[in-house]
Amino acid sequence: MFESLTPQPPDKIIALIDEFRADPRPDKLDLGVGVYRDAEGRTPVMRAVKAAEARLLQTQDSKSYKALAGDGAFLDAMRDLVLGAEAPADRIAAVQAPGGTGALHRLFELAAKADSGAVVWISDPSWPNHAAMLRHLGIPQRSYRYFDPATRGVDFAAMVEDLKGAGPRDVVLLHGCCHNPTGANLTAEQWDVLTEMALAQGFVPMIDLAYQGFGDGLAEDVAGLRAMAARLPEMLIAASCSKNFGVYRDRVGAGLVLCRDAAAAALAADNLAALNRVNYSFPPDHGAAAVTLVLTDPALRADWEAELDAMRRRMLALRQGLADALRRETNDGRFDFIASHRGMFSRLGASPEQVERLKREHGVYMVGDSRINVAGLREDGLEALARALVAVGL
Ligand code: LMR
Repeated sequence: MFESLTPQPPDKIIALIDEFRADPRPDKLDLGVGVYRDAEGRTPVMRAVKAAEARLLQTQDSKSYKALAGDGAFLDAMRDLVLGAEAPADRIAAVQAPGGTGALHRLFELAAKADSGAVVWISDPSWPNHAAMLRHLGIPQRSYRYFDPATRGVDFAAMVEDLKGAGPRDVVLLHGCCHNPTGANLTAEQWDVLTEMALAQGFVPMIDLAYQGFGDGLAEDVAGLRAMAARLPEMLIAASCSKNFGVYRDRVGAGLVLCRDAAAAALAADNLAALNRVNYSFPPDHGAAAVTLVLTDPALRADWEAELDAMRRRMLALRQGLADALRRETNDGRFDFIASHRGMFSRLGASPEQVERLKREHGVYMVGDSRINVAGLREDGLEALARALVAVGL
C-alpha cells in the first residue's frame, strides 16, 4: 500500500540543518534554524534548567501519568508568565503540549471543533509551518500582508486593510513578539488598533508566542498581547518553552484559551484534554516539570531570568554590531533595520539567488527568504559577513 505515497516537500528550515552539517568548510556560518547559540557556537542547557533537572532526579518518585491536559502547576505557572498574575484564571482554559508547535496544533484543532467554518488568517510572510499545519488539518486559511520590503518594517496599513476582511469567529494569527521570519514587530498602538478591530468585527486573535524574553524583555514582549487580553472576550495563545528555557528537544509548550466566562472555559478545558487523548494521550512531562520548578522556585527563577536577559542582550549587541559593520562597508544606513528588529530573526531582503550565492561562495547559510538567525552570528565574523552580503549585491 505504501507505494502510493508521494514524496513530501522538505521543510525549508529543517532541510538547512542537514545541508549545513554536510558542508566541510571550517569557516561556514549557520544562520538557519532558530536555535540560540552562545559566543562559542553552543546551545547550552540553561543553568536553572540543569539545576531543576538535578533536583527532579533526586526527588521524583514516580513517572506515573499526571492529567490529560498536563500538570496543573505547569499550566498555572505558564498562564502567569504569559498573561500575568492578575489575568482572570476562571476564564482561561489551558493545555500542556509538546512544544509551541504542539500547542498551535491543539489550538487550531480546538478552533476548528468550535466552528468548522472558521478561517485562520496568517501573516505574509510567516513561519512556514503555520500554513503547512493548517493544510494538514484541512482548516481554511488566508493571508494578510505584514512586511514592507522597502522599509523592512511592518506594513500596518496593508495589514489593517486585509484584516478588514476577517469575519466573526475567524481566527487571526499574530506573533506575540519577535516576528518570525522578519524581526519586524507591532507597536503598542498597533496592538490597540487590532484589539479595536477584533471587538468590532468579532474575530478571535491567536497569538504564537515562541520567543518571550528574546526581544525587549519578559514583560515587555507580552505587553501587547496582555493589553489585548484585558479587553477581549476571547483569545488563543500558543506559548513555547523551547527557546526561552532552551528545552528544544524536550518539547514543552502550553495552549491558553481566554473564554467569555467560566462555563465556556470549563468546556474548552474539557475539549482540550479530549484532544490530547486522541492525539497522544498524556503530554510529555520531563521538560515541563523542569520548567515548573524554574518558574516557581525563587532562586531558580532569578537565575533563569538573568541568563535569559544575558542571551537577549547578546543578540541585541550582535544586531548592532552587524548593522555597524554594514554601515562601514556601505557608507550608508540601509542596513540599520537590523538593529531595530527584535528577537532571533531579521529578514535581510536578499533574493533567492543571492541567498544561494552566499551559501555557495561564502559558506553563509540562511533560510531561502533571507531570514538570518542573529544568535548564529560570531562577534569576530561580522566584518566578513558584511563584506559577503555586499559582494553578492545586497
Ligand atoms: C525556526 O523558525 O527556525 C524555529 O522555530 C525552528 C523550527 O521548528 O522551524
